[in-house]
Order: sequence, then C-alpha cells, then structure tokens
Amino acid sequence: MRKPFIAGNWKMNNTIAESEELIQALLPRVGAIEDVDVVVAPAFLSLQAVVDSARGSAVAVYAQNMHEKDSGAFTGDVSAPMLEEIEVQGVILGHSERRQYFNETDRSLQQKVPRALEAGLIPILCVGETEEERERGDTERKLRHQVQEGLEKVPKERLHEVVVAYEPIWAIGTGLTATPEQAQDAIAFVRALVADRDREQAERTRILYGGSVKADNAAELLALPDVDGALVGGGSLEVDPFATIIDAAVDAVRS
Ligand code: PGA
Repeated sequence: MRKPFIAGNWKMNNTIAESEELIQALLPRVGAIEDVDVVVAPAFLSLQAVVDSARGSAVAVYAQNMHEKDSGAFTGDVSAPMLEEIEVQGVILGHSERRQYFNETDRSLQQKVPRALEAGLIPILCVGETEEERERGDTERKLRHQVQEGLEKVPKERLHEVVVAYEPIWAIGTGLTATPEQAQDAIAFVRALVADRDREQAERTRILYGGSVKADNAAELLALPDVDGALVGGGSLEVDPFATIIDAAVDAVRS
C-alpha cells in the first residue's frame, strides 16, 4: 500500500505574512490528517515561518528547489544543509518551470536527487512532456530520459523514498488536465521505468499527477490505480480547494 501524497506548490506567491495566513487557515482543516501525506512548498523566504507554524501538525514543509552542492560560489542559491537546518522535510526538484526558465538540467538533477536523500530531505522529482513532444509521439522517450537520469545515482534500496511527479507541461497552469487515461498511462509507464531498476521498489514508489488539479477533478484522478497523489499549483493557494483535494485523497484511501 502506497500512502497518498498531496503537495501544494505555492511557486513565487505569498509574502511571509501571506504564507503565515494561508498555513494558519489550512491547519485547522488538514493539520491532523494521517491517512495522506500533506505537503506545502512555500517560497524560500517563507519557509522558516511556515515550518514554525506547521510544527506539531501532520503538514510537512518542502522547498521548491535546491543546489546540489552544500556550499560555495553559487550566487542566489540554497543548499540541502541550509534547508535541513530550518527543518524543511523535502524539496521539489526539476519542476518544469525550473527546467524552462532557469536551465535546470537532467545532469544536475542526477546530483540533486541523491543529495537531497543523503541530507534527509524527501525529493519530489518532476518529469513531463511538452505539448509538441506529445503530438510527435515522444512522450515515452522524454519520460524515460528524465526518470532514468534523475534516479540514476539513487541507491537501489532508497528508490522508494523518492516521490515522482508526472506533470505534462501543457497541463500546468493552463486549466487543461490530462484525461484519466493519459494520466494513468503515463504514470504506469513511469512506474515501469522505476521497475527497470527494481520491481519491488517501484511498487512502493509514490507517483503523483500534476497539472491543473482542482477541487472538481481531483477525485477522478486520484481514483486511478497508479496515481498516488497530486502536485497542485494554483489549486493550493486557497484553503477550500486545497482541502477539498486532500479530502478526495482521504476518500480514495478509504474506498
Ligand atoms: P497547476 O501547477 O496546478 O497550477 O497547473 C502544477 C504544478 O506546477 O506543479
């Protein structure tokens, strides 16, 4: 049994004050949920405040990126020990926006994913194809490349600790969601790629769907056999939709 996992990626939204307001409003609704792993990922500057607010609750706080090195001349970046020091519990890695606007590469993710694990952070490795790649029939080729590179240096026995998020780029922030069939097929394919490394680990690895997950489509997506949760952007910026998505995951476990 894979424990469902719902993560809210706040992206570059919310000042520290706004982040505190959002977490304070969220905690009474979802702070005691145990059947589902609930995560929020605020911007770097808000991390400490949200960690402090969420302490003692079941909500975990993740960063949205980190550098693969622990320290050095990397202006503007943040490292795993820095995140660990403030009790951040995980990190989103390889989000398509990092890949698209900040030149994140599979080569650096190959270092970042195992580095996060070594530092005690749960990595969420994001993968997904562009609209053009899907139309060309290149979805599987793209996913194979991203998953193999991202997991290559993860020791086999730790593969199940990595959370993978399949996010078709054409569905992010667009209001277009993958059909249940597209989501299931792609995520089953990602699981098969993990199984190429180790079948038993693949059965334990949580694989999420991301891309315009909303209160009204979450239940259908979360009911799919290989979909173990969701990475939610816009739908995580307000309490009601995000709590509804988490409730849908709780229902999915119980049914
Ligand atoms: P979205 O973003 O839910 O706003 O489409 C998802 C993501 O980027 O993780």
